[in-house]
Amino acid sequence: MLVAMRQLLDEAAKGGYGVGAFNVNNMEQIQAIMEAARETCSPVIVQASRGARSYAQDRYLYHLMLAAAELYPDLPTVLHQDHGNSYETCKSAIDMGFTSVMMDGSLMPDGKTPSTFEYNVDVTQKVVAAAHAKGVTVEGEIGVLGGIEDGHGAGGTGLEHVTDPEQAAKFVELTGVDALAIAIGTSHGAYKFSHKPDGAVLKMDRLIEIHNRLPKVHLVMHGSSSVPKELQDIINQYGGKLRPTWGVPVEEIQLGIRNGVRKVNVDTDNRLAMTGAIRKVLFETPEKFDPRDYLKPAREAMKQVVAQRMTQFGQAGHAADYQPIPLAVVAARYAAQ
Ligand code: G3H
Ligand code: 13P
Ligand code: ZN
Repeated sequence: MLVAMRQLLDEAAKGGYGVGAFNVNNMEQIQAIMEAARETCSPVIVQASRGARSYAQDRYLYHLMLAAAELYPDLPTVLHQDHGNSYETCKSAIDMGFTSVMMDGSLMPDGKTPSTFEYNVDVTQKVVAAAHAKGVTVEGEIGVLGGIEDGHGAGGTGLEHVTDPEQAAKFVELTGVDALAIAIGTSHGAYKFSHKPDGAVLKMDRLIEIHNRLPKVHLVMHGSSSVPKELQDIINQYGGKLRPTWGVPVEEIQLGIRNGVRKVNVDTDNRLAMTGAIRKVLFETPEKFDPRDYLKPAREAMKQVVAQRMTQFGQAGHAADYQPIPLAVVAARYAAQ
């Protein structure tokens, strides 16, 4: 059943676990996530970036998601807009049937230029009003992630605009967001760190400070792929050319989860897993040309990564803990606040 993300995150906070939010662009990725969730009995957050929406075309993407909700009625499932760049993007997602949106007002609508605090508050307030009227959840962002690899981000190392706890508190109070993405030195894509990250580049101390200042707020970690060496090695073994690189170690994410992180965004690890599996098939059996011969192993490789993360983040086993609340009821509750 498609449900509001707020409910999943409230339940995650009660249970003290995190929920992975995995990006999708096509049918195989949606299938991989849903099968991993079924196997591990997990609540699900599926998210689509603007790039995904234009790649797959909104109607295809939405109907694939409806198929997932129909095929897995017992798994509470969120369809989330990742990195909405404007009110219009978020509104179109809400109108289409997404149950959660991210308004990333930390950047201007170009998705690259850091914005002012006032702009961020203003645009996020507008999205919150439109979303809550429909029972839809809103994730905001304060502070700016590094990297531009995936077409979204301000560039740099990610340490230029680390989230300030006081500003975060003011932002939550002024906007009424349901979840807050923070910047602690991570960035999108495969090239996050040039060595195993320590406290100088991955600011877990800052995350803990923000949690202590805002103990009730659901925090979101973006750029949370771990970029495992095994997945890099498979790609390189079969003709790929990845430079040595480090992601966010799972233990650091688990430390975050013990300190208020309820949503953990992962895309790159799944991209690596699928690409490695496809390269392997094409390298070992170059005579093959049926897309199913490489898409099936790719889907399976992604499923394994997702199931592993669901277990590591603690959401495994929690799909049946609660009854999904219809969006109309959620909307009425917001209106009564
Ligand atoms: O925001 C980053 C996600 O990995 C989505 O990337 O914009 O290339 O679809 P994308
Ligand atoms: P990764 O590139 O680390 O997977 O981050 C994904 C993300 O934050 C999507 O919003
Ligand atoms: Zn992100």
